[in-house]
Amino acid sequence: MNGRKANFYLMTVKDRAVSAEEINKQKEFIERVRKVNDEHFLASGKRRRAFVLTLGCQQNEADSERLMGMAIEMGYEKTETPEDASLIMVNTCAIREHAEKRALSLVGQYKHIKAKNPDLVIVICGCMVVQEHRVRDIKMRYPYVDILFGPSLIYKLPEHLFKRMNGSNRIFDPDDKEYAVAEGLPVCRENKFRAWVSVMYGCNNFCSYCIVPYVRGRERSRKKEDVIAEFSELVRAGYKDITLLGQNVNSYGKDSGFDYDFADLLSELDKIEGDYVIHFMTSHPKDATRKLIDVMASSKHVARHFHLPMQSGSDRVLKAMNRKYDFEKYIGIRDYIKEKMPDATLTSDIIVGFPGETDEDFEDTLAALRRARFDMIFSFQYSPRENTPAAAMDCQIPKEVKAERFERLLALQNDISYSLNKEFEGRVVRVLCDGPSKNNPDVFSGRTDGGKIVFFDGDERDIGKFLNIKIETGDTFALSGKIER
Ligand code: 5AD
Ligand code: SF4
Repeated sequence: MNGRKANFYLMTVKDRAVSAEEINKQKEFIERVRKVNDEHFLASGKRRRAFVLTLGCQQNEADSERLMGMAIEMGYEKTETPEDASLIMVNTCAIREHAEKRALSLVGQYKHIKAKNPDLVIVICGCMVVQEHRVRDIKMRYPYVDILFGPSLIYKLPEHLFKRMNGSNRIFDPDDKEYAVAEGLPVCRENKFRAWVSVMYGCNNFCSYCIVPYVRGRERSRKKEDVIAEFSELVRAGYKDITLLGQNVNSYGKDSGFDYDFADLLSELDKIEGDYVIHFMTSHPKDATRKLIDVMASSKHVARHFHLPMQSGSDRVLKAMNRKYDFEKYIGIRDYIKEKMPDATLTSDIIVGFPGETDEDFEDTLAALRRARFDMIFSFQYSPRENTPAAAMDCQIPKEVKAERFERLLALQNDISYSLNKEFEGRVVRVLCDGPSKNNPDVFSGRTDGGKIVFFDGDERDIGKFLNIKIETGDTFALSGKIER
């Protein structure tokens, strides 16, 4: 019986990995580019530099860390200023129009850098450049862009770069119908104690407003062994806060026929010894299970933080969005989280101005916010994305109406956040210290396990450590207090 089951399992597990030959081929290109760059160093006494600019989500940040990891192996030094770079990589986002405009305007600025330094190689990658109309745009209007590739093809950077440095025409490689998973790429992590670990890529949900399934392809999961190996290595190296990433982590394993799901993966990771917290994002409410919530509640390391995008409080709009749950189902999950973990931080994404959203629909969203009492929301005005069903729907909402609803939504959420944060006054919370605050270097900042920003009286030695902070003031966007030593 067991044998038959095991065979069946072997037959149904899909191997999503980029082949070992392909990865080895890229490693050879890494060596070849490195040789060219070493020769340049010997001749000029200067190392070539690489700059990466990242727009968009955490998955893009994780991808950029791999792009930079490969660049470093290829003999580049990392730089924070595009002006002195020989390799500029722009990792774009397509989720809203604003993100695309920003990417194009930044690439526009690099024209002058290229004019001064003809050896500069400009790479544009990420979600924006999978779309045919953008590929056309970049071919025609940005002739100084050398290389373009989509997000599932980042592992091909070494090959494309080598070819372009050696006289190839401009390279356009936007899409990969296979959408394979590349393991073993070098990585240059931005932060010394916070890290990302992707568990799956892509999305099968096709929410009617969203471009992601078209640009990041179908869901594919990394093998448990690969995730656990990367995760354990991070814990061993002293990382304190590790976020598991996926467009919809709750679908983990479904695409590949694994006999374990995301909750199983989480409980497996939780067993790894060490002083760290695990976050994960994002969860789709349609398949957030009680099993997952139970695993969180009984875990040692999983942060009591649930990011559960609701998008709208109106059942009519949720249906038009193709979200596959209604408000009742959503609030049921929310209540179960709070029942099991009363101190859990809850955050959500909300879109206002979806096509056809009436005043009543919007009122439903406000009522939903009052009922759910999120600690924080990420709110967006609906932005039509080319070739998505919602962009073709009648009754697009005028800009002014979206803007007005957006303001009302924020005002309500600010009240809720303020009153929830006030409840923290007098409590002691555990905070991972990031360092001096960007806006006011006189105070230190960090985050609670639930992701709340906290200001306090730290010093350099506290950076990257967990501290107990007694909260004195709870405000709309942050808490502040003093360290309890
Ligand atoms: N317009 C506005 N917001 C969007 N999001 C996704 N697509 C769009 C769009 N076309 C939001 C959703 C999602 C978050 C990452 O971005 O709220 O959860
Ligand atoms: Fe986009 Fe929906 Fe997939 Fe999230 S679940 S990436 S909103 S299609």
